[in-house]
Order: sequence, then C-alpha cells, then structure tokens
Amino acid sequence: MAKIVVTGAAGFIGSHTTDQLLAAGHTVVGADNFRTGRRANLTAALRSGAFALHEIDVAQPGALDALVAAERPDAIIHLAALVSVQESIADPGLNFLLNVQATQLVAEAARKHRVGRVVFASSAAIYGDTTDLPITENTEKKPISPYGAAKLASEALLLGHGAAYGFTVRCQRYFNVFGPRQDPASPYSGVISIFDRRYREGKAVTIYGDGRQTRDFIAVRDVARANVIAATRPGLVSGVANICTGRETSLLDVAAVFARLYPGAAAPVHAPARTGDILRSLGTAARAKAELDFTANTSVADGLAELAAATAA
Ligand code: UD1
Repeated sequence: MAKIVVTGAAGFIGSHTTDQLLAAGHTVVGADNFRTGRRANLTAALRSGAFALHEIDVAQPGALDALVAAERPDAIIHLAALVSVQESIADPGLNFLLNVQATQLVAEAARKHRVGRVVFASSAAIYGDTTDLPITENTEKKPISPYGAAKLASEALLLGHGAAYGFTVRCQRYFNVFGPRQDPASPYSGVISIFDRRYREGKAVTIYGDGRQTRDFIAVRDVARANVIAATRPGLVSGVANICTGRETSLLDVAAVFARLYPGAAAPVHAPARTGDILRSLGTAARAKAELDFTANTSVADGLAELAAATAA
C-alpha cells in the first residue's frame, strides 16, 4: 500500500480521488487551502484513520516542501488549482501563481524529497478551440485562455523535472468532468452541475444555442479511478493521456436524461449561444487504455442518476 499526498484534496476531483485511494487501502495526506475546496467534501474521508488533512497553500513557497519532507510519500497527486477558466481571464496573475508557480513547487518538492511519482490535473483546455476531432494527445496545443496556457506550461515543467531528476510524471488531460460535489455557483460552472441544481429547485434550465453542442462528459468517479491508477500502478512510465470517454453527448440529451430523473420539471429555455462557445468536443481514449489500462465505464445517464441521488441526499 502506498502513501499519497493529494493537493486540493477538499475539491471536487480531489475529494473523490481521496475517497477511492482510501477505499483501495492507501494512506492519504490531504492538502488544501479551502479557497474553493470544502471540508464537507471530506466528511467520509475524515472518519478514516488512514487520512490526515493539512490546511496549507501549495502556492506558498515552503508549505508543500515541509509537508512532503515530513511525510515522505510515494506519490503526489497535484489537483490544487484555480479551476475557473473565467477567473483565469479576469485575474491572470493569480492564475499564474496558483496554476504555474504551485506546480513548480510540487516539482521541486518531488525532486528534493525523492518522491517517485507525480500525477497532474491537466485539461482539454490545452487544445483550445480546435475543430479537429476527435482530439488525440498529438492534436496541436493552442490554449485560448490563461488557464489552458498554465496547464500546458505545468505539464512541461513537471515532465522536464521528472526526466532530469528521475521521477515519473503522469499528466491527466481531463475533459468535461461532472458529478457530486461540483460547485454550481457560477454561471460558468460546469453545465451539468448548474442543470442539476436548477432541476432540483424546480426551475427551468437555460440552454445556450440549439442544444446540439456536444461535450465528452466524464463522470468524476471515473476520473478519480484514473488518478488512483496513475499514482499507484507499478511500472508506469512518464507521459500524458486524455482522460475522457471517447463519446460525445449533446446538451439536449443531457436535458432529456434530467427530465426523466426529475419528472414534471419545467421545459428548458433557449437563449442565444455564448460567444466563444465551441460546438463539439470529443477526445480519444486509446492512450489512457494503452498506458494506464484505464477505460471510463460510467455512462452519462448513470452518472447523472448518481448525481441527482447524491444532491437529493
Ligand atoms: C469550458 C469552461 C468555460 C470556458 C470554456 C472555454 C468549465 C466548467 N467550463 O466550457 O468556463 O469558458 O471551456 O473553452 O470549465 N451551457 C448552457 N447552459 C448553462 C451553462 C452552460 O447551455 O447554464 C452550455 C455552454 O454554453 C456550453 C455547454 O453548455 O455550450 C458546456 O458548458 P461548460 O460546462 O461551461 O463547458 P465548456 O463549454 O467546455
């Protein structure tokens, strides 16, 4: 069994990753500054004797270094981040601090304390608004936001440090992740978290455009499983992989599933398409299968049912 430091442990993806690591018998040391993470996401984990939670800011020099020096983990899963594309556009300096500087500090801590492996939360945002589908790992990288640029820079920083100092780096390029604990607070939050809240409150959802736009929606439980594999499977070599399903689902299809889950719900309202919105997004899942033996196995319908059940609880 391994000891894993998870940065951003109280966040959406971090808390699910923590839960699955604990369920698999690993020891987890969580780090979070609670800027967007929430202690309530870790209610179950905090009952485990194999979990400890530290309130630290990974972007602050020395903070993660001290934790890694004390804990000597086998791997670091670095999920702490400024997670909103919109916020990165509004405050690019903060984006640099939280999404690039913090990654550099993770790389240095791994080197200094001989951590064997670093798993990184990258994003399909590094590909920008490409219309060349499906997106493979070799698709041209053309970020169109400070967020996407920072994720791409972070991949390079980690891979370069890993190669120079001899630790394994796995960059996980998440597509549109959805599921319980995703924050629906902003109009730019993930569409599924917004829709779930609206349906639950009995309000009509707004579909921007005709609703035929598609995304490669992946359930957070699958993403967490991909993180567990990347951090703990013996013998992995450094690399990058899309973490996606390889299937596209339209917003109309998402709304139709919600309508079944919330009988009697108001019909969706249509509004003009958002500027800058992409029409389709779809990744290829072959490399994650080949390099991690990971396949997403939760359908969008099952993932939405799980979400509706979790938010009702
Ligand atoms: C992602 C980012 C977004 C960024 C965009 C830039 C997330 C959660 N979103 O958007 O911040 O601007 O990349 O490439 O990281 N939609 C509705 N109704 C709603 C909310 C959204 O119809 O209430 C639509 C959107 O217009 C879009 C689709 O749903 O067509 C998906 O939206 P979203 O979940 O924000 O994902 P991305 O478009 O991939």
